[in-house]
Amino acid sequence: MVNQPARSLSPDSTGDGIWHDVASTGDLIDGKSILVQINKQPVVVCLSQGQYYAIGHNCPHYDAPMVEGQLVGNKIICPWHWWEFDLDTGHCLYAPTEQITEMFFSSEFMGNPQSVKLPIYPIRTEAGRILIQLSSES
Ligand code: FES
Repeated sequence: MVNQPARSLSPDSTGDGIWHDVASTGDLIDGKSILVQINKQPVVVCLSQGQYYAIGHNCPHYDAPMVEGQLVGNKIICPWHWWEFDLDTGHCLYAPTEQITEMFFSSEFMGNPQSVKLPIYPIRTEAGRILIQLSSES
């Protein structure tokens, strides 16, 4: 696990916001994740089957560290209770039945499984570097 501060870049020529240079592509091996900090915000960078993903670090269930999650294709499995999340959308794809029941009755989730999701951030590579945007910046 790497935990390093990001270097912020100016908005690029596409004008689509601030990209943060967080790591070298060589810092990641396929099937593994690293933890980086962007403006003191922890972000997990994943490489799974050749695809890069950037997600929030805290599981929406009980805040497990998602950097320790297991990557399976375009899914990540939480290390504590095995909820599965889609790395493209952040949506919860699976949770053990008794935990879904608990979730459905909590006012936070309002009975809607699609409301349970990890933050997902735009990510790209350029010249061997991994660049991420935070959703709240423009
Ligand atoms: S903390 Fe992630 S599934 Fe429970």
